Parts: sequence; C-alpha cells; structure tokens
Amino acid sequence: MNWLFKNNNKQKVSLSELIVAIEVDGHSHLLPGIDDGAKNLDESIFLVKGLQDLGFKKIITTPHIYSAHYPNSAETIKPREKEVQDELKKLQVNIPFNSAAEYYFEPKLAEKPKESLLFLQNQEILIEFDMQQAPNEMWKEVFFNLQLNGIGIILAHVERYTYNIGQIKWVEELKNMGVYIQMNLGSLIGNYGFPTEKWALQLINNGMIDLLCTDLHNAQQLHTLQSKKDKILSLNNKLDINLFNQLLK
Ligand SMILES: [Fe+2]
Repeated sequence: MNWLFKNNNKQKVSLSELIVAIEVDGHSHLLPGIDDGAKNLDESIFLVKGLQDLGFKKIITTPHIYSAHYPNSAETIKPREKEVQDELKKLQVNIPFNSAAEYYFEPKLAEKPKESLLFLQNQEILIEFDMQQAPNEMWKEVFFNLQLNGIGIILAHVERYTYNIGQIKWVEELKNMGVYIQMNLGSLIGNYGFPTEKWALQLINNGMIDLLCTDLHNAQQLHTLQSKKDKILSLNNKLDINLFNQLLK
C-alpha cells in the first residue's frame, strides 16, 4: 500500500540543502548593541561563525531602524559594521560581511533622501510592517512613491503578520506591485508556531517567496536552526531552490 503515500508533486529538501542553495543571508541583527539583536562584539562573532557553519557564504546584516525604539542611521550602523569586520579579520573568519537596515514602516520613509537610505544590495531596502497591527492603507502610496524614486522594496517576513495569515491575495497584490517577498527560515521549522509554519509552506509552494533569510537575533535562534538543519521540507517540485535570494548574490 506504499503507493498511497507517494506524492510525486513534492521535492524533499533539508533545511541545510536550502541554506547551501540560497548562499546569502540578507536579514539578521548581528551588529553589537544597536537593536534587539547581538548584545556585544563576542555575540556578533559567535552568530556570524554560526551562520557560516550552517553553510552561508555571505551575510548582509540588517539592524532595525524605527524612530520610536531604534533611531539608527548610517552614522550608528557603519562604525559597528567596521568593528565586526575588523574582528572577523583578526580572527581569520573569512566571510563577506556588511550591513544594510530593516526599516520599520513609517509613512515618512518616502521623504528620506535617497542617499541616506541603506540598500540591501543594489537599490532595494528591507521594510517591515508591525506584526500585530495592519498598516494604514497609506502604505501603498508610500511604496509607490519609493518605487517612483527608483527604490526597490523587499517586505520582511511576510508570513509573520498575524492579521494577514492565510490571505494569499494580499501577497499576490504585493507581488503585482513589484514588491519582493522575504520569508524567515525559522517559520518553516516551526519557530513561530504551527499556523505560521503552515502558512509559510503554503506561500513557498505557491511561488510567492523571493528571499529566504534567518532574521537571526540571538544564540537561541541559532541553536534552533542548528538543531533542525536536517529537517526535511516538502516543497513544490516546480520550485528551483537555486533561484532563491538571487537578488543578493
Ligand atoms: Fe528583523
């Protein structure tokens, strides 16, 4: 009766294999003492080494920028990036490491001078919405104005907005607007609960996801990724996992 359990529409991929394919981690909080991520330089180095051990080949870390809680800018971010780079060099940890930012959605984002923005790779910025409260409808206008100014938008951890779980049309709308969609790897291994895991798998199997990243903040999250790296993910066999994170390579 084995045929009952055969599913020819799926490819089985472990979390490790996925990480090797995506190569670059483009969302994390690894700069020391600047947001709710790494608390000091030792923790920064520990987390970078951990990501390297997991199979990442390059890291673009993204400290929070949120005027109310994390009033960061290039002035606070770039010196700490240099501090981590220098320490990695000293310790002979060879992995390209640099920084951009994760912008909390605020309508005034579109008013910032383009030259002050921290781009992830080319002309794209990473933006997050509030996790619990849906953004004002104005977000569409703000996104449009940013795009008019030649700025690409990557929406952070799309699967984690509790008010939109299961609303695939919302994600389709974002994609139709030309927004790139990022998902946290931890969502696929149950780090944020079962409803999020199920929703994440649905999104990935419907081809909605452009980028898979860790959003790593601390040693405990690293440990979870390490301990579940052999977890098998059942993905749509039409997905080419090598195409994830192309934007960052
Ligand atoms: Fe984040």
